[in-house]
Amino acid sequence: MTASHDKRDFFDGIVPQWILDTEERSARLAEIFIEYELPTSGPVLDIGSGVGILLPYLSDNGSTFVAEIEISMEMLRMAREQHRTLKDVCFMQSDAHNLPFASASFTTAHCFSVYPHFDAPELALREIRRCLRPGGILCILHLMGHEELNELHREAGRAVESDILPPVDDLARTIAQQGFAVTRSVERSDLYLLLATRM
Ligand SMILES: C[S@@+](CC[C@H](N)C(=O)[O-])C[C@H]1O[C@@H](n2cnc3c(N)ncnc32)[C@H](O)[C@@H]1O
Repeated sequence: MTASHDKRDFFDGIVPQWILDTEERSARLAEIFIEYELPTSGPVLDIGSGVGILLPYLSDNGSTFVAEIEISMEMLRMAREQHRTLKDVCFMQSDAHNLPFASASFTTAHCFSVYPHFDAPELALREIRRCLRPGGILCILHLMGHEELNELHREAGRAVESDILPPVDDLARTIAQQGFAVTRSVERSDLYLLLATRM
């Protein structure tokens, strides 16, 4: 199981627009990382890493290993270009449904603005769980609530029009069924956050 070519092409094509509001989103992330004490302990898996927007918060002084995982080569190319000086970061074209890592390789997994794009979410969650060590933390984050995001996807084009983010309580139940203990879930119009510990 891998993401469709349509989806990959779609994300390749939106890179120029995607980077336009990076600064604004990044400023929000800085606040959220502090306020909610988001996990940064490495090694870190950053799935659907885009142009590397989380890297300033994950790779801190460059001593934490971060794996940037993307289906879109264009996103990865831009990420490499923008973060070429960072050490201990690898940029890999790979798919959340089939991660190229040994079991229990990571302490933290971030899914920032990517969960609804998984074609088989439960398979992706199983893969992420496999790659996390027991006690490792999964963070699912969006900068808006599910209704606004789903509306945005419906209008964004065929490749993502059916990509649905469930209400956070529903996702919390799904994640708990997949061998995680949910430690925090928040949803409001400007934030969707779910933190869970791998059992
Ligand atoms: C909405 S963008 C978010 C990018 C980045 N996290 C950010 O917030 O700037 C979603 C990203 O997830 C990637 N993606 C979608 N499905 C994926 C999958 N199955 N495995 C890995 N990456 C995926 C896309 O290529 C795209 O770059």
